[in-house]
Amino acid sequence: MEAIMPKLLFVFFLAIMAQMVRANIGHFDEVWQQRAKEARKNALKAYHPNPENVTEHLNNHVRMALEGSNNTRRGLQGKMKNLPCRATNPIDRCWRCRKHWAADRKRLASCVLGFGRKTTGGKNGTYYMVTDSSDTDLVNPKPGTLRHAVIQPGPLWIIFGRSMMIRLSEELIVTSNKTIDARGFNIHIAHGAGITVQFVDNVIIHGLHIHDIHAGNGGMIRDSVGHVGVRTASDGDGISIFGSTNIWVDHISMSNCKDGLVDIVQGSTAITVSNCHMTNHNEVMLFGASDSYSEDSIMQITVAFNHFGKGLVQRMPRCRWGFVHVVNNDYTHWQMYAIGGSMHPTIISQGKPLYRSSKSFCQRDYKEGLRSRK
Ligand SMILES: *[C@@H]1O[C@H](CO)[C@@H](O)[C@H](O)[C@H]1NC(C)=O
Ligand SMILES: *[C@@H]1O[C@H](CO)[C@@H](O)[C@H](O)[C@H]1NC(C)=O
Ligand SMILES: *[C@@H]1O[C@H](CO)[C@@H](O)[C@H](O)[C@H]1NC(C)=O
Ligand SMILES: *[C@@H]1O[C@H](CO)[C@@H](O)[C@H](O)[C@H]1NC(C)=O
Repeated sequence: MEAIMPKLLFVFFLAIMAQMVRANIGHFDEVWQQRAKEARKNALKAYHPNPENVTEHLNNHVRMALEGSNNTRRGLQGKMKNLPCRATNPIDRCWRCRKHWAADRKRLASCVLGFGRKTTGGKNGTYYMVTDSSDTDLVNPKPGTLRHAVIQPGPLWIIFGRSMMIRLSEELIVTSNKTIDARGFNIHIAHGAGITVQFVDNVIIHGLHIHDIHAGNGGMIRDSVGHVGVRTASDGDGISIFGSTNIWVDHISMSNCKDGLVDIVQGSTAITVSNCHMTNHNEVMLFGASDSYSEDSIMQITVAFNHFGKGLVQRMPRCRWGFVHVVNNDYTHWQMYAIGGSMHPTIISQGKPLYRSSKSFCQRDYKEGLRSRK
C-alpha cells in the first residue's frame, strides 16, 4: 500500500501535467501543485460573469478622458514644446502628468482599467530598491537583486536605484502581490531569460524594456523564500503569464524575444496589457496555447493603448477560448495579420479617436517628478 500510494499520486500528477502546456516544472512538486490549485480558485473568483460591464466601464473612461480635453490638432503636439504634459488615455491620465508622481508611486495601483482593474500589486507593502543588476545565484539570490526582490513573501513595491541592464541567467519567477515599478530609470531586461508569472495573483509590471530574450536551460531556481525547485527549459517569452490572475502589464517596451512577447495561457484571467510598445518580433501575443484546453474560456483580457510598431508579423493578439477587449491600440503595420482567433474566442475590437502620443512632454515631467522626490 505504501508503495502504491506515491505511484498513484505520481500518475495523478502526470495526468494534471499532461493537460498543462509547458509548465516548466521539473518533477512532482507539492508546492507547485498547491499553487496551481490556489490559482484556479483565484481565477474562478476573478472571472466576471458579465464582461461587457467591464468593457463598458473602460470605454466610459476613454470617453471622459476625451471630453475632458480639447485637442483637435492631432500630430502637432510633438512640435509644440511648451504645451503642458498631456496624457492621452485614462490610465496614464491618472498619474503620468503629475509633477510629483515619484513621491506617490503607489498611486499607480489605482490607475488600472479593464479586466485587470482590481490589480493592486505590492501596494500594501514596503518599497524594495534594486541596486544590483547581477543574477548569478539562482538558489540564494543576492540581496539587492531583482531576483531577491521578487521572491520575498508578502506585498512589495519594487523600484530601482539607477539605470541598469539585467541579464537573467534563468527565468525570473515572480511571486504574488508584487509591483515591479521601473519608472524614473532605464531598466533593461535583455540578452538572457524572461519573466515568468506562474500560478500567482496580483502583479503589476511597469516601465521595463524587455528585449532579446533567449530560452533558458532550466535548473534549480528559488521561486520563494521557502522553496527551491527544478525548472525545465523556459520558452524565451518576454513575459509569460501562466495560470495567473489580476495581472497588469503597463508601459513595457518589448522586441525580439525567442518565443512570444507577452503570452497569456493556462486559464489566466483578469489581465490588462496597456501602453506597451512592441517592435521587431514575429509572434507577438498568444492568449491561450491549446485548442483542447477549454478551461481557457475563463480568460478575460484587455489590450489597450498599445503601440504595435515596426517589424511585427502576427498575433496582436492571437486568441483562443477567452474574452478579449482590444481597444485604441495603434497598429503601425503587420506582415501577416494583426488580430486573430480560433476556438470561438470573443474579441471586441474598438477604436476611438485619440491624440498622438505626447511622450516628449511627459518625459520632461518624468524628470521633474524624479527631482521632486529628493
Ligand atoms: C452589469 O451592469 C448592469 C447595469 O449597468 C448592472 O445592473 C449589473 O448588475 C452588472 N452586472 C454585473 C455582474 O456586475
Ligand atoms: C475646451 O474648450 C472650451 C472652449 O474653447 C473651453 O471653454 C473649455 O474650458 C476647454 N476645456 C478644457 C478641459 O480645456
Ligand atoms: C491591502 O490592504 C487592504 C486594507 O487593509 C485590504 O483590504 C486588501 O485586501 C489588501 N490587499 C492586498 C492585495 O494585500
Ligand atoms: C496576497 O495578498 C492577499 C491579500 O492580502 C492574500 O490574501 C494572499 O494570501 C497573498 N498571496 C500570497 C501568495 O501571499
